Amino acid sequence: MKKLLICTNYRANPNQHSCAARGSKALATDLAHLVKNEEVEIIVETSNCLGYCDIGINLKLSPNGDFIHNAIKSQDSQAKLFELIKEFAIK
Ligand code: FES
Repeated sequence: MKKLLICTNYRANPNQHSCAARGSKALATDLAHLVKNEEVEIIVETSNCLGYCDIGINLKLSPNGDFIHNAIKSQDSQAKLFELIKEFAIK
């Protein structure tokens, strides 16, 4: 089954960017609820660092899907993110 990975890594050094510091845990919770409520067939999982800390929040569509960078927690971006996730899930 396809997966959406959301980095929820937190870096202890405040001078280093991290997805968790940008609100990725709340975004993961919101997207998991949307996927469940809309019955989209994709598994939402949190992940460790995806290696793009400076341009987070980072997500990865798996297998063989794109990375999504700079995902922020706002209504507008969540709607766009959700459309990308749905498109990937039905491919
Ligand atoms: S902390 Fe999220 S990609 Fe590194």
